[in-house]
Amino acid sequence: MVVPHPTSPLDRRRFLIGVGAVAGLAAAAQLPVGPAEARPRVAGGDYVFRLGVASGDPLPDGVVLWTRLVPRRFEPGGGMPPRRLPVQWQVAADERFSRIIRGGTVWALPELAHSVHVEVEGLTPDGEWFYRFRYRDQVSPVGRTRTAPAMGARTGRLALAFASCQDWASGYYPSYRHMAQEDLDLVLHLGDYVYEGGIPADGGLRAVNTPDILRVPPRGDLTRWRMQYALYKSDPDLRAVHARFPFAVTWDDHEVLNDYANTHSQYGDGNIPLRRRNAYQAWYEHQPVRRPARPGSEGPRVYRRLHWGDLAQIDMVDGRQFRTIPACGWGEADACDEAYLPRQTMLGRPQEQWLYNGYAANRPRWNILGNNVMLARLDHDGKKGDLLWNDAWDGYPRARNRLTRAWVENDVRNPVAFTGDWHSTFVNDIKRNFDHPKSPVVATEFVGTSISTNGDVPVYGPYYGPMIDFNPHIKFFDGDRRGYVRANIDRKKIFVAHRMVRTVSTRRADQYTLATFMVEDGRPGAVQLSGPTQDRFPERSSSRGYGKDAEGKATQVG
Ligand SMILES: [Fe+2]
Repeated sequence: MVVPHPTSPLDRRRFLIGVGAVAGLAAAAQLPVGPAEARPRVAGGDYVFRLGVASGDPLPDGVVLWTRLVPRRFEPGGGMPPRRLPVQWQVAADERFSRIIRGGTVWALPELAHSVHVEVEGLTPDGEWFYRFRYRDQVSPVGRTRTAPAMGARTGRLALAFASCQDWASGYYPSYRHMAQEDLDLVLHLGDYVYEGGIPADGGLRAVNTPDILRVPPRGDLTRWRMQYALYKSDPDLRAVHARFPFAVTWDDHEVLNDYANTHSQYGDGNIPLRRRNAYQAWYEHQPVRRPARPGSEGPRVYRRLHWGDLAQIDMVDGRQFRTIPACGWGEADACDEAYLPRQTMLGRPQEQWLYNGYAANRPRWNILGNNVMLARLDHDGKKGDLLWNDAWDGYPRARNRLTRAWVENDVRNPVAFTGDWHSTFVNDIKRNFDHPKSPVVATEFVGTSISTNGDVPVYGPYYGPMIDFNPHIKFFDGDRRGYVRANIDRKKIFVAHRMVRTVSTRRADQYTLATFMVEDGRPGAVQLSGPTQDRFPERSSSRGYGKDAEGKATQVG
């Protein structure tokens, strides 16, 4: 599958550089060359690559490479001089860097916290690549990444994982430790990469002393937001999974403020536009994303589309920046007529149009929606009333109907939503219109749980578990486990495994597969293959303590 073509680094030196270039042949002469220099310098002293490396948004001919120079993570300025600094980068076809394919030098700019985004081009499709950076005499860890198959090329496999919600103080990231051992082409991160709160002095469940400067939440302070990302990326398992696989990242609310909508919040918590601007800036500085995601006069454009040959299209959406204020109230509130006004939107009209146009233009076998909040209805109170969670798509029913209509009218093949946010696991049938019980199932949704958020405490199982019976389109629910979702996509089916860890109170925790599902080509709706089923789910209202591993053996959790 991996057939990189060694190309001369000199004859096709085309690369885009987000922060300006000092590239050229002279710079190439100074690159770290040879296998001996592939070793990163021991992390200590003023080591600048403390946050590791990352790659993202693979295209058939390139990928984004990311790092940031920050020797002192919790100092304003990160310990770097306030001027632009040259950083060298290399892409090789082998881990020992004996076949270097591309290279160059970029400026790390102080106004971008000395982060670096290299948009490498000129690689061959469907290849595996290794990359590293150098600043002065320091060499970064080596990252591995890959390019997508050629546009439209017959493609038989896409192995991905998706994750969300990694509150640092809620626990460690043993799931990332396991994810780094998987054989994946891509990782989708669906939001809540950081949380907006101050960090407790004792480090929360991590029980790690943290500097005083982290006590105060970032709010509108860019310098403090940078420290939040630097803290989260201090986690070695998060760094490991970034170094191993390319990511496609979108955001949810906690990258700015709980449940915010556009420039509004129910909390009236200071200047939301200012907070948002700086939070978006810090997000860009710490993610392997392309130039449009850099905040500018137009605001960052985060929604984007990836293609995996003729097999899959992945539409990563931004469900926060452009949404209207939920018409029926913030959070849990009764459904109301105003939610059906045409102006109510989750994505904003330009993004909606972009999404639907993409459906009309491309005919992949699988159409994946990288989605931040739950798409399916969750009726909270059955016949008693109309209580819904309005921060999710339930607050935007008309916008949801526009999306499902776009799927039907464009004859979109196999729409599947991968969703974050909830800190619980759901597998859902998506109906053409949830207001009509006889409406057909048009798509499938998998809601992953959190990597760490909510820690080891049962919170949502007891609350949401009793509601599941009101929602026959919900095929599976599990309340309070931590983990991620692995999806193996081939031409006939998507095989989905809900991969859980037993605790997030330690860096190392055993992993098990709670349940597996399959979606077949041409048949919307998931078929459960293993794991506890809804009709024998006595513990679902307090789901801790029950599970089955991949072999179908009952296991005790926590
Ligand atoms: Fe979350």
